[in-house]
Amino acid sequence: MDDYKKLTNEVGAPVADNENSITAGPRGPVVMQDVWLMEKMAHFNREVIPERRMHAKGWGAYGKLTVTHDISKYTKAKVLQPGAVTEAFTRFSTVAGERGAADCERDIRGVATKFYTSEGNWDLVGNNTPTFFIRDVHNFSDLNRAVKRDPKTGRRSAQNNWDFWTLLPECFHQITVVMSDRGIPASFRNMHFYGEHTFSLYNEKNERVWCKFHFRTQQGIKNLTNEEAAEINGIDRESHGKDLFETIERGGFPKWTMYIQVMTEEQAINHYENPFDITKIWPHAEYPLIEVGMYELNRNPENYFAEVEQAAFTPAHVVPGIGFSPDRFLQGRLFSYGDAQRYRLGINHNQIPVNRAKVAVNEYHRDGAMRVDGNYGAAPAYTPNSAGFWTAQPEVAEPPMALEGAMWRYDPKDDPTDDCFRAGGNLWRVMTEDKKALLIHNTATDMASVTKNIKYRHAVHALKADPEYGRRLIEALGLCPDKVAELEKLNNNELNRATLSADVD
Ligand code: HEM
Repeated sequence: MDDYKKLTNEVGAPVADNENSITAGPRGPVVMQDVWLMEKMAHFNREVIPERRMHAKGWGAYGKLTVTHDISKYTKAKVLQPGAVTEAFTRFSTVAGERGAADCERDIRGVATKFYTSEGNWDLVGNNTPTFFIRDVHNFSDLNRAVKRDPKTGRRSAQNNWDFWTLLPECFHQITVVMSDRGIPASFRNMHFYGEHTFSLYNEKNERVWCKFHFRTQQGIKNLTNEEAAEINGIDRESHGKDLFETIERGGFPKWTMYIQVMTEEQAINHYENPFDITKIWPHAEYPLIEVGMYELNRNPENYFAEVEQAAFTPAHVVPGIGFSPDRFLQGRLFSYGDAQRYRLGINHNQIPVNRAKVAVNEYHRDGAMRVDGNYGAAPAYTPNSAGFWTAQPEVAEPPMALEGAMWRYDPKDDPTDDCFRAGGNLWRVMTEDKKALLIHNTATDMASVTKNIKYRHAVHALKADPEYGRRLIEALGLCPDKVAELEKLNNNELNRATLSADVD
């Protein structure tokens, strides 16, 4: 205890004075010999690490997944076997805002979970929405440039945001979700979250099904209006972090019920649209939710930087029994996260305690900056070797995945089954009147500063999704109904061309 109270330098030597610099005479300049002062200043200058390129603002907590149902016919993953209890860590985030952004912004929320399974870490890096804006990796950096800051003004720009969204009609469903009441959750506890992509599961017999992951809140869905959010942000920009921390601190552990949706390989071939397109949903009526278990958050981190800021999740981390799919968007993510973290945290970031697996990690990677785990001592650094060290385990190999078609740059919009507006239209039609009114109000408010051509583009999309949705948006945005009807006859490329100029009216 006494040692705990003693101030030392970075190598444990006692510090004599932490207030008064060593100076040449009582009123003289500081001398180089004040090495403790130099160390202190130098460390401070290097304390900031790069923020995540998106999802920079976030909060985390530890928890556990308890599997209550038997889905072993779909997957052999030990983490998903009946009765399994697995420790986990979840980080919630907003997407567009930087590290200091306010929590109560209209945005989707990221929900990334690391399950420390007995077969290595499984990361499910999802959001609080069942689908995403776009579906090709090429569009991803552009989406973020459009929703983040304008290169000239340095400010966020509704014009850029809506211009980009409306030029890609596949964004329509996600725009509808973000502009709805769900665009500003009341807390992280009051929202569902989803893996979004189509993943795969395979069982002991190596039979594969396609799967989507859903976590449905047991706290009930609660959202905020623009006005409520503005008031909260004016008082406390960290309101969601505070809510999560304080709720867990007083023992009110938030819970979610975990479900999967399953599609057989044969169903996927016969499905009426591309089941691997992340902008499409699998309707629950056709692919019902299958209960898996319960996820609970029950412990706060001890140190924000060590555990939340340094947490590193990647969809590339799967375990036997859980796999990827032909989803081209997912494929792009498999590269991006590890690459970002090698830059953001360094090559050995998986040794940081929050990221470290709870099972033995036996790989042949060696060295690199900040290697702090002993670097495998004298163990061989090459394979194959005759010393009997770490061999591959062919029994965990995934079943082969049949693919078809020539290599090419396919535009999903050329696929005759592609309908960018079905999901958005269906969502509108199941909304109650108060939700519809909010969606229209939020959209008109968000688009207030946007030029008319972009408003026309969005109104055309809404009209294609549902005549009532279109009509009410035309009214709220003050557009000419005849002009929208005329534009609606155009195909996507023609519509985009016809609405390039701000004076479309
Ligand atoms: C091709 C598309 C995408 C790319 C290239 C991409 C890339 C990235 C990158 C580079 C980061 C920062 C990682 C870090 O520094 O640790 C990130 C964070 C994140 N992304 Fe994506 N992303 C994509 C799509 C998605 C989608 C579809 C989802 C949800 C299903 C998602 C959810 C998240 C979440 C939750 C985080 C924050 C993780 C954390 O809390 O540390 N991203 N993304």
